Amino acid sequence: MIEKIGIIGAGQMGSGIAHVSAVAGFQVKLVDVREDQLTKAVGGIGRNLERQVAKGKIAEAAKDAALARIATATDLSALADCDLVIEAATESEDVKRAIFKQLVPHLKADALVATNTSSISITRLAASTDRPHKFIGMHFMNPVPVMQLVEIIRGIATDEETFQAIKELTAKLGKTAAIAEDFPAFIVNRILLPMINEAVYTLYEGVGTVEGIDTAMKLGANHPMGPLELADFIGLDTCLSIMQVLYEGLADSKYRPCPLLVKYVEAGWLGRKVGRGFYDYSGDVPRPTR
Ligand code: NAI
Repeated sequence: MIEKIGIIGAGQMGSGIAHVSAVAGFQVKLVDVREDQLTKAVGGIGRNLERQVAKGKIAEAAKDAALARIATATDLSALADCDLVIEAATESEDVKRAIFKQLVPHLKADALVATNTSSISITRLAASTDRPHKFIGMHFMNPVPVMQLVEIIRGIATDEETFQAIKELTAKLGKTAAIAEDFPAFIVNRILLPMINEAVYTLYEGVGTVEGIDTAMKLGANHPMGPLELADFIGLDTCLSIMQVLYEGLADSKYRPCPLLVKYVEAGWLGRKVGRGFYDYSGDVPRPTR
């Protein structure tokens, strides 16, 4: 029975997962190493809830109740009473493994652990905990309050009880599940990220400008967002990490991360979350940088 949900990482995804969990009636503990990220997350959740009230999607009282269900902390010991902990920290295997190592001593004996990783092996991450049978991939989409899908990925040791509990939770959060096998980047990002990487190559080789490439894919392929705009929205560091996992995991040169994507990440131009990626977000409207 899942009542209390712990979330590790209060970035774009962790705050979105906290939002939908609290609206669905769960008690939420949101943990981040950075106090400023927690403050930013709670502020953002408040504004997004207000937007939902304005659109008539939830009542004012439901907004207040949801906010009251969210507590924050900078220490993993705050997750000791959680029935499920969802890890949504930076997309790095080293970071995630270190988190699980620190988390395990605090967990209740029967607590489930899920990871929101976009690409990393669930089986490998599970092996860094004491409970691979209670470990699962629960991959939400960005922005979480808006996007309908959750990919559910079992590791080799995940038991049926855990799988069923996470399927039920997904439905309670108002989401639809797609089941993926534990291969690099699962379904959505196996297909989406090579397209984004190809768009960056298209820019790198001078085939089109930022605006040209995005307009072409919006109007020519009927995509709601252009691939470079979408890359900025996902975060270029996350895009690069996913491409590296595909490249290493599938050992095929077609997944080679575009050198321009690497350069942008090295420059700290990580996209919308830092104010600059393929677009500059410092003004009223995003401005293409190339
Ligand atoms: P983000 O960069 O917005 O947030 C990551 C957060 O993790 C930051 O607040 C950071 O302070 C925190 N963090 C780093 N190390 C930590 C630690 N040791 N303990 C606690 N917190 C720590 O990244 P974002 O976009 O929220 O991504 C998080 C995860 O969600 C990644 O695994 C990513 O692949 C996945 N994801 C991302 C999507 C996207 O569109 N951005 C979509 C679906 C999944």
